[in-house]
Order: sequence, then C-alpha cells, then structure tokens
Amino acid sequence: MSKIINGKEVSAFVKEKVKTEISLLKSKGIDVSLAVILVGENPASKIYVANKKKACEELGITSLEYLLPEETTTEELLGLIDTLNNEKTVNGILCQLPLPKHIDEQTVINSINPKKDVDAFHPENVGRIMIGDFDFLPCTPAGIMEMLSYYNIGVEGKNCVVIGRSNIVGKPMSMLLLHKNGTVTTCHSKTKDLPNVTKTADILVSAVGKANFVTADMVKEGAVVIDVGMNRENGKLCGDVCFDEVEKLSSYITPVPGGVGPMTIAMLMKNTLTAAKKQNNIF
Ligand code: GUN
Repeated sequence: MSKIINGKEVSAFVKEKVKTEISLLKSKGIDVSLAVILVGENPASKIYVANKKKACEELGITSLEYLLPEETTTEELLGLIDTLNNEKTVNGILCQLPLPKHIDEQTVINSINPKKDVDAFHPENVGRIMIGDFDFLPCTPAGIMEMLSYYNIGVEGKNCVVIGRSNIVGKPMSMLLLHKNGTVTTCHSKTKDLPNVTKTADILVSAVGKANFVTADMVKEGAVVIDVGMNRENGKLCGDVCFDEVEKLSSYITPVPGGVGPMTIAMLMKNTLTAAKKQNNIF
C-alpha cells in the first residue's frame, strides 16, 4: 500500500513561509504584486487563473487580473505586456497558456521581461535552468521537487522516468531530476515499448494528459509515482494514473486532485516573492 503524497499539506507549508516573507516586505513598505493575463474563455484556464488569484489574496500578494477577449491580437497582447514590463509596481507577469490559436505563444513568452517571468518560460530563464544558475524554476516541476524533498525521497542515483516532453513540465522536470543526480529517461509519443521503460523507474512522473494512461503493469513495485495529469472524465477531475491499481504496488503516490495541482500554485507564489525581492535588491 502506498503512502499518499499530500500536495495540500506541502503547498500549505510552502505558502506559509512565503506569507511570512511577504508580510516582512510589507513592513518595509514593499507591496508584492502579480499580473495574470487570460485571453479567451478556456474553462480550465479560467479555473486556474481564479485559483491563482485566490492564493495571492491568501498570502497578501496584490493580484492584477487582465481578462482579454478571444479576438485580442498579438499586437494588443504585446502592448499590455510592454506596459506591465515597465510598471515598477508589478513584480511578476504570467500569461495563462494555452493562448488562442491566432496568437503565437513563443512570441508572447519572449516579450515578458525575464526578471518578471514567474513561470520561468522565457528562453533566458530556460537557458539558465539548463546550466543550473537560475532565479526561477517552472512551477509544476519545482513543486514536484519540493514534494519529494518534503517526504525525504532522495533522487540521487535513482532511475527517474518522465513521460511527456512539454516545455512546461516534461523537459524542465527531467532537467531538475538530473540536477539532483537522478538517472533520467524522458519518454514521449514515439518511445518504443513504453511499459518496458517505465518499469525501470524508481521515480515515475507522468505528464501526458490522458486519463488511465499509466496502468499497474507499467509500474515497478515500490516506485514513487507522481501524477501531473489534470483530465476530466465524465465531469470528474482525474490524473494520468489508474490510482486504485497503481497505489497497491507503489511506495508513494500523488492523488488527483490534491497532489501536484496545489504545488504549482504554491511555487508560483514563491517565484513572485523571489521576483519582488530581486527587483528590490533583497537577497
Ligand atoms: N497552463 C498550464 N499550466 C500553466 C502554467 O504553469 N503557467 C501558465 N502561464 N500557463 C499554464
């Protein structure tokens, strides 16, 4: 039987520390603020953005919300980002992805001031992560590393298998595990005989986006299983992992909901705090 990795508990632990630092900054006259941009009506994005706003309020971060219509042009969006880049009172800028199809996502990401890029998606920040000299880490992989550390799950020398190679999760996840001296394999849709690879994992991270993708026959006995999936099945939120069958043989497992999700937001709050500290020359 697995031990459940409680993302709510770890997230509360991280947020409490951030909250303390935020109030310390406030006492020095520094107000921390995060601008969140949402373009269009994607229902999942709306929920994520609302949750980010709620977390900001909880922690004493000023949250500025920009809800733009679906037909917003790239130029209009770049114009708003330029204004926010130059606005001293704004410490962090986040543009919720995915963007509508007519807007080029990478152009938008590239336009965010790297010092305010609390997602760590800008090429400068991505490059700095590669060489291990970073201010910000992307929120989801950073949250997963935080959970592993909270539960004293070591990475060094472990076989780590990441399913998924997105810029947001899979690639940076592999890099962070590598930084901690894991032996890392990144799998994707062209990987041959996936179960054979995943069965070698001491730590298995699934970031596929398909319900019931990871089945018991793909998991080694005693493995740590991290489920990044946020899928809807018959209106119910579920991950990538067949929880009921996998939790019988894994040593640790993250549930969905209540696993990785809350950590993503906690790490966003932490990045926003870091941005504010850096911009005010507080180290
Ligand atoms: N869409 C899904 N996850 C994320 C995230 O972490 N940041 C942004 N900006 N958009 C997302």
